[in-house]
Amino acid sequence: MGTVKIHDKEFKVSISAEVIQNKIAELGRQLSEDMNGKRPLFVAVLNGAFLFAADLLKHVTCECEITFVRVSSYSGTQSTGQVRNLIGLNEKIEGRTVIIIEDIVDTGDTAMYLINELKKERPSEIKFASLLLKPKALKHDIHVDYTGFEVPNDFLVGFGLDYDGLGRNLNDIYTLI
Ligand code: IMP
Ligand code: MG
Repeated sequence: MGTVKIHDKEFKVSISAEVIQNKIAELGRQLSEDMNGKRPLFVAVLNGAFLFAADLLKHVTCECEITFVRVSSYSGTQSTGQVRNLIGLNEKIEGRTVIIIEDIVDTGDTAMYLINELKKERPSEIKFASLLLKPKALKHDIHVDYTGFEVPNDFLVGFGLDYDGLGRNLNDIYTLI
């Protein structure tokens, strides 16, 4: 126990399920206090944030809505690099408090893209919640308002995070051995 093999690689427990759940409960309490009376819209980013969003919302006691989006990235037909697409945002967010829920902020590219896309819809404010943050990998000036854990710049898997499609269902978070 304590280790898992996924595809060709071995991982060991880095953050236990109990520690994760305690932290999520704490974030939920904090959010409930901060958002009381605001009726925020939570925007959870699939696939990675599905478990974090589900467990977090169990601890949010204020009136709120939740919706799920996906950021598809594909190489454009031209050599200009990555083209991104935000899929699934049907709610009207003008004038509302929006809270993005992510599994991890690594370079911050995805977070930056999401914030810029949502800003176009003129919300009254955007807050960002991420279970994990890799401060040493961050390339953008992004403020994560609600952070679960700051982690080193190592590859992690579990609790929503995958290695080549596997491992999202693990209750603990694992790091490469
Ligand atoms: P970004 O570099 O902040 O844009 O992160 C992009 C995406 O990479 C995240 O949403 C995750 O899906 C994925 N990612 C970043 N770090 C890890 C990791 O350690 N394990 C698994 N996926 C990761
Ligand atoms: Mg993600």
